[in-house]
Amino acid sequence: MDYDPWDEVKAIDDTKAGIKGLVDSGIVKIPRIFIRPPHELAEELNMCKSTLQVPVVDLSGIQVEDGRKKIVDEIREASEKWGLFQLINHGIPSSVLEGMIHGTRKFHEQDVEMKKEYYSSDPTRVVRYESNLKLLTTKGRTATWKDSLLISVLEPEEIPPVCRKTSLEYIKHVIKLEDTLLGLLSEALGLKRNHLKATECDKGQTLVCHYYPACLQPELTLCTPKHTDPVFVTILLQDQSGGLQVMRDNQWADVEPIEHGLVVNIGDLFQILSNDKFVSATHRVVAKNVGPRMSVACFFNESSVSPKIFGPIKELISEENPPLYKDFQVADYLTNFYSKPLDKTSLDLFRL
Ligand code: OGA
Ligand code: NI
Repeated sequence: MDYDPWDEVKAIDDTKAGIKGLVDSGIVKIPRIFIRPPHELAEELNMCKSTLQVPVVDLSGIQVEDGRKKIVDEIREASEKWGLFQLINHGIPSSVLEGMIHGTRKFHEQDVEMKKEYYSSDPTRVVRYESNLKLLTTKGRTATWKDSLLISVLEPEEIPPVCRKTSLEYIKHVIKLEDTLLGLLSEALGLKRNHLKATECDKGQTLVCHYYPACLQPELTLCTPKHTDPVFVTILLQDQSGGLQVMRDNQWADVEPIEHGLVVNIGDLFQILSNDKFVSATHRVVAKNVGPRMSVACFFNESSVSPKIFGPIKELISEENPPLYKDFQVADYLTNFYSKPLDKTSLDLFRL
């Protein structure tokens, strides 16, 4: 019989129970839509793992001048070379971090009947959960082994009750941390401390609470394929399971979980603003036969309705350092992002 990936997509989609539902149904092998193409699997076998350590920045010395300078230097180096670093002693209480992970688990593990009403691939819904099967299959891509709860506008009463309180508490703290981070990143670029904040590049926030069930055949699929985040900056909370990797010099390096640490990564929009001084991190999540793994990404982005013009920051431009990107409106950026060909990043769209 001819294989039609849409039959598999539809069968899973109709349950509204996500990948977790698929696993709970007792499958013994993963459906074909999740299996990576042969050339990718072959390439994977030939890749060496990086032996380099992903940078860890300790914020505890931030109040003293010397301490702050050291932190700024470390962030500059990490943002130039990796586009990604981990933060420790960042000030968010461990109970808040644990609450956020626990809330994510509770959402995904609640009764399917309760979860169903949120199952949707309609991007205009402020809160929804999905497995991205339709989108990926439409684009001819391999499906991924994860379910995600997306909270795109912070309308507290819309957040599902099982994780409302913990999410709101986390959001409050993570926005405060982002303020601190913007000051440090501004200084790392040689700008005034309030420069990035004034550009309002972090006005819009989306929280994405991922749930990656254990996978029977982890070597055949991926939880999140190789990508860069199209946003300004992402702050990611991950549990202790591991699986997140970042690319450095064409090799994958593990972003080892640090208890109560947070991962920060530079997105495409920030690479453009910095005129390539900082790089947006290429990263992915590999599948494992143990799980579930939970992670929560908070994407900081310009509000999609902003009429503001973006482009390389003028203070970073000079005769020796001409702009590498053209100026654009955020709405243009988003439209182009969703319609662009698969092999292009947001950076390619605006590069001069
Ligand atoms: C993302 C992402 C990584 C993770 O949501 O863009 O890269 O560890 N997540 O879940
Ligand atoms: Ni990402």
